[in-house]
Amino acid sequence: MKLTLHVWRQKNARDPGAFVTYTPTDISPDMSFLEMLDVVNEGLIGRGQEPIAFDHDCREGICGTCGMVINGAAHGPRRATTACQLHMRSFKDGDTITIEPWRAAAFPVIKDLVVDRSAFDRIIAVGGFISVPTGSAPDGNAIPVPKPAADQAMDAAACIGCGACVAACPNASAMLFTAAKVSHLGLLPQGQPERHERVRRMVAQMDAEGFGTCTNHFECEAVCPKSISVEFIARLNRDYIKASLVGEPKATAGGEG
Ligand code: SF4
Ligand code: FES
Repeated sequence: MKLTLHVWRQKNARDPGAFVTYTPTDISPDMSFLEMLDVVNEGLIGRGQEPIAFDHDCREGICGTCGMVINGAAHGPRRATTACQLHMRSFKDGDTITIEPWRAAAFPVIKDLVVDRSAFDRIIAVGGFISVPTGSAPDGNAIPVPKPAADQAMDAAACIGCGACVAACPNASAMLFTAAKVSHLGLLPQGQPERHERVRRMVAQMDAEGFGTCTNHFECEAVCPKSISVEFIARLNRDYIKASLVGEPKATAGGEG
């Protein structure tokens, strides 16, 4: 495949940045999108030029590091697909592809397509944990978890923290990410002791990081590579109101109250 790539190049956070055009001619449709960038980078390095910086680790849709905007869509044109799982057969020979970093004030560009997503880490740090007594491991199934709560918690836990929801939202809201992280613990009995404190702290940190508010555009759900449902945002809002009105709940074996 021959392609025309317009790639955002930016030396550092202070550099204004600009699109640079590349025209690779030897791209296989079976390559992943990141392998295509590898090929472009090999050419750049061979010519003594700076390779395009982009984040990646697992390359199998698990780690959440590979976010980039491809032709205006976070993670590219395929639903429920990370950039690393996108293949070049999703494009046509001769296509023009524009590649940009996430654009959000809370995710400053570090270099080229790499952004600083440590705002997400700080949201997790204030509430994404449970307190358990130390000692030997408990017996398996000692704490019964109702099947509907377990299923919903698993759905929320699928969030890989990629940030596509923020990049796609016109308000750069982090509500879908925060809702997923609040819910996957708050739905389980083990997450009950800190449930109200967790939602209060994580929402406060989300606001402090400069993410925007949710005004129900639902772009987040549309681009989420793990199909996290906006229903978790409604659940977060309910939990937040409850947490603002009442104190800490008692731990129960039944999970969500
Ligand atoms: S909710 Fe979806 S889009 Fe947002 S960080 Fe999690 S996996 Fe990525
Ligand atoms: S590189 Fe890990 S999700 Fe894409």
